[in-house]
Amino acid sequence: MRAPKGTFDTLPPASAQFVAVRDTLTAPLRRAGYGYVETPVFEDTSVFARGVGESTDVVAKEMYTFSDRGGRSLTLRPELTAGLMRAFIEHRLHTGGLPVKLWTVGSAFRYERPQAGRFRHFTQVDCEALGVDDPALDAEVVALGVQGFRDLGLTDWQLQLTSLGDSTCRPQYRELLTAFLARLDLDEDTRRRAEINPLRVLDDKRPEVQAQLTDAPLMVDHLSDSARAHHDAVRQHLTDLGVAWVEAPRLVRGLDYYTKTTFEFVHGGLGAQSAIGGGGGYAGLSAALGGPDLPGIGWAMGVDRTLLAVQAEGLDVAVAAGVRAFVVPLGAEAKRFAVRFVGQLREAGVAADTVYGDRGLKGAMKAADRSGATHAVVVGDRDLAAGVAQLKDLRSQEQTAVPLGELLSVVRDTVGP
Ligand code: HAM
Repeated sequence: MRAPKGTFDTLPPASAQFVAVRDTLTAPLRRAGYGYVETPVFEDTSVFARGVGESTDVVAKEMYTFSDRGGRSLTLRPELTAGLMRAFIEHRLHTGGLPVKLWTVGSAFRYERPQAGRFRHFTQVDCEALGVDDPALDAEVVALGVQGFRDLGLTDWQLQLTSLGDSTCRPQYRELLTAFLARLDLDEDTRRRAEINPLRVLDDKRPEVQAQLTDAPLMVDHLSDSARAHHDAVRQHLTDLGVAWVEAPRLVRGLDYYTKTTFEFVHGGLGAQSAIGGGGGYAGLSAALGGPDLPGIGWAMGVDRTLLAVQAEGLDVAVAAGVRAFVVPLGAEAKRFAVRFVGQLREAGVAADTVYGDRGLKGAMKAADRSGATHAVVVGDRDLAAGVAQLKDLRSQEQTAVPLGELLSVVRDTVGP
């Protein structure tokens, strides 16, 4: 049996890097007072159909939708924002102070064509700030994402930024773009795409299409006064926060809810699937899901792709600490001592382990090496009788006898937490 197509298992020891990436991306959010939320991995299908947009590839082609035994149509979440917004509305979080700042991390599912960096099951770290329309909040959200990448030590990435306008200017721009596209020589499929969402045509990678788009009208040149002022203020705050970006007037996101500030984080070492994260504002999402007319802004970082970026840059991300002390018992009495002593070490905050099953001294020492521990506590029945244990430095192979009464504090002081 194998894991389903487009999925993979994350196993030790490599999984320590995954944990480090995930936790490093979430740390800035926790430090900034964002609250952790957990929502179900499946929602009523309408949450995504109405939230993400029926015309998107994500909803039209990529959802894992099924009927449960009660005949409800449910969908495995293809992204985390719509479910978070559903929870925000259901629990009336807007009745407290605004903005409501939330984060979560978890699985997302899209039936995509698998390739390097594109999977059917992947993990996102997600950040959302809800209920307030303030350029400073947009800048905060972006900066918190930037901080995570910086903390990982990543350098070969870029923040691409634009504004997608709002309900006061996007409809007119859409008409302008539609009229422009109607004059081009496009195939049937592309024409149909232009009718459903003309913006998406701007994202067409084919050179023959791109060649015709050089003079296409751009949203940033047709922003309303208020959307323009918002965009300018966001950029001012980003500058103040020391965040660099490149203007990306042709940036097209795969989800329909975006308004005004819209951005993507792109990495140079990943090939075609270069987006390690993305997000933006969404003024209409709450109302589309039956909630109050309140805006939001947020992002999701792809943990799996960020991990690939970390590997592409050859970074040694802080791996989650493994075992520090490994207890090796020789004999039945010593075994009982080892089990108890490992419990005491762990209680004292020392990452510790021992050997299970009848492995013999050689097997036990091999297990100690494999565990990554820096020190082994070797204890035989005879040691116990003499009231000592041997503390062995596994790097230098030096060994010292330590009285049992001092063993816990000596090991703790020697190996650290
Ligand atoms: P998204 O751009 O669709 O945005 O996904 C965010 C990130 O998730 C991508 O940049 C990528 O790193 C990762 N990702 C997406 N699809 C896959 C895949 N098939 N395999 C591996 N990684 C993938 C959203 O999901 C929005 N909910 C972000 C957001 C939050 N906007 C506002 N708030």
